[in-house]
Amino acid sequence: MKHNSSQTTMHLTGKETEIQQFGTVTNRPLSLDHKVRLASVDGLNQILADTMTLRDMYKKHHWQVSGATFYQLHLLFDKHFGEQAELVDALAERIQTLGGVAIAMVHDVAETTRVARVPKGREAATIQLFRLLQAHELIIAEAREAAHAAGASGDDGTNDLLVSDVLRRNELQVWFVSEQLAGAGIADKEEEAARSVAGARA
Ligand SMILES: [Fe+2]
Repeated sequence: MKHNSSQTTMHLTGKETEIQQFGTVTNRPLSLDHKVRLASVDGLNQILADTMTLRDMYKKHHWQVSGATFYQLHLLFDKHFGEQAELVDALAERIQTLGGVAIAMVHDVAETTRVARVPKGREAATIQLFRLLQAHELIIAEAREAAHAAGASGDDGTNDLLVSDVLRRNELQVWFVSEQLAGAGIADKEEEAARSVAGARA
């Protein structure tokens, strides 16, 4: 069979090539209502888009980090990148398991993510750490909300993935990133606030 470039272009553009549209779920014998699976997929896709953004932010920071802590942050950022990449796969495959369509391409992720846009250029290590914490906190809040909703509607599998994998991994990474900021000014302010709250209670 002969191919030319115009034929290929015609074939690969346009909605007519899709066998399932984004935002829909196919039937699966999972003993879960269509509506429940649709709601779970919707929440999971948001968390997936934000997790892909955080994963890529870790690689950016791995490459571009500078300063006295260069080597330890270079290593830490790549470790967290790898762990976030595992979460991306788990989230995407949960979406497909539920009969949905996982968000996948960078242009779609860019349109969907709620993580604040990161500049192209390099930033100081303190700012890198601060941005990571902000993205983690967003994902943690989304994961808790989606986990509660999934649990309440009987989708225990999604609830378990969001709590056991997404939530716990993000909380652990927040610990490691937060401690890097101890003494940098940002974390100190939080510590000060915590001390004054503890003081007021005493
Ligand atoms: Fe590397």
